[in-house]
Amino acid sequence: MPKNKIVSCLLLGLMYMACEGPAGTDGAGTYLTVSPALASVAAGSTVLIAVSTQNGEDNDYTWESSDTDIATVSNGTVTGISEGTAFISVKGQSSGANTNAIVTVTNSTRSDYSFALDIAPMMTSDNFWFPGADACTWCHYANNEEELHSKHVMDLGTYEGIMRGADPDPDTYEDGHPLFGETETGDTDYDWSNAMLKSRLRNNRMPQAPAWEFWRDESNRLGPDLEFVDGHAQPIRPIQYTSWDDPDNVPNALGLVEAWVADLKDGGDLNVGGDDPFSYGGEDNLTFNNDVLPFFTDGSMWFDGSTSCVECHWGNIEESYHLMDLSSYDGFIYGADGGEHPVLNGTKTALGSTDEIDWGSSRIKKRLRDNRMPPDAPFLLSEENRDGPDVWDPVNGEIVTAVDLIGLWLEAGASE
Ligand code: HEC
Ligand code: HEC
Repeated sequence: MPKNKIVSCLLLGLMYMACEGPAGTDGAGTYLTVSPALASVAAGSTVLIAVSTQNGEDNDYTWESSDTDIATVSNGTVTGISEGTAFISVKGQSSGANTNAIVTVTNSTRSDYSFALDIAPMMTSDNFWFPGADACTWCHYANNEEELHSKHVMDLGTYEGIMRGADPDPDTYEDGHPLFGETETGDTDYDWSNAMLKSRLRNNRMPQAPAWEFWRDESNRLGPDLEFVDGHAQPIRPIQYTSWDDPDNVPNALGLVEAWVADLKDGGDLNVGGDDPFSYGGEDNLTFNNDVLPFFTDGSMWFDGSTSCVECHWGNIEESYHLMDLSSYDGFIYGADGGEHPVLNGTKTALGSTDEIDWGSSRIKKRLRDNRMPPDAPFLLSEENRDGPDVWDPVNGEIVTAVDLIGLWLEAGASE
């Protein structure tokens, strides 16, 4: 385990006792937020950290610095003393909830962004993205999965590692999936708004409320195993997930949706409707309306107690989340956000023909199988936690979101 992880896990241990993380759909449970949660100041300068109590009330807070040789704190005002990193912890007097901010002190005022000071702490610190969040580097700490078991052969804690992307060749470190939207790893045409890392930080896996459980072994990612009763697909009850290791032979919910999408693409007619038959799992008379749609319109289809998608996505109107209608064939073809987010591919223009269908990048596939990172982020229907905590932009001297700071760093050339 890297050394900086040991420090932050000690802090985590201390924090768990006092800090009740947000729980449930809307983050019920008292917790503190700080703004900025990450800051960098020059020795001799100060930065003011604001704190607020969520789902509770505190009139007073106590502040403490993990290392007063590096930074001191008084009432939220942090003063840089000497080069290094200090954790500034704050505790609500009545709620007992507590959290911390990460402050790095530099010798002089900064004019550039840097991976080490601005980005690495977001990946290597516990509790950064939300209270109770694990550091990314608990699971992604080396470009090696075989012997070191680092998930997706990914190393998010070092500059070289993060630039190699996900699932690179473990011997050559080449051919990783780019995290920052660049064409290939090593290229510098970063495209943060379409970057894979950005969507993993912001996009919740669906359905939510109550959330999909995160399984580190990934085995529930294809949805429940299926059986066919009177020629129709339904989850085996009680729900079980054994398909991950043998997806071609164990029918599963995601495989069913994929088979329908492939048949639709092959057919060449976007308006064929929901009653056109397709085959999957040895059955030839499956249809969108009979077999696929219930996975979106009924509850308890993905896990016990899973919410029906149409509770939130029921029409192409503003009141329905993302103006998305998952209740009918036409809604699936039309997509989200006024058609600009087709669910059957990952582009940002309305679906024009079956040629444009692309299961691999499809929004529906990603939302059903990809967990938001770090796992177990509280799902806020308001979406207000999607861009991560506030952080300090050391170049422009203002507060921005964590996700936006990564974008600023990339725009400035993504320096070490
Ligand atoms: C507890 C372990 C754990 C932690 C902590 C964690 N991840 Fe992951 N991560 C996984 C697993 C397992 C997967 C694959 C399964 C999934 O997506 O549900 C994954 C997948 C990913 C992927 C997709 C890789 C690919 O090839 O598609 C990215 C990117 C990612 N994580 C980034 C992060 C970031 C950034 C953080 C921290 C903010 C983080 N992860 C924290 C376990 C973790
Ligand atoms: C409790 C409400 C709720 C439920 C239930 C729900 N969603 Fe969502 N969905 C949201 C919210 C809120 C967002 C946007 C915020 C986010 O991603 O965290 C969203 C985003 C999405 C998006 C992205 C849309 C876009 O414009 O990019 C897709 C696709 C999606 N959901 C599919 C589903 C599917 C499929 C199900 C059921 C299996 C489902 N959702 C269940 C609330 C919900």
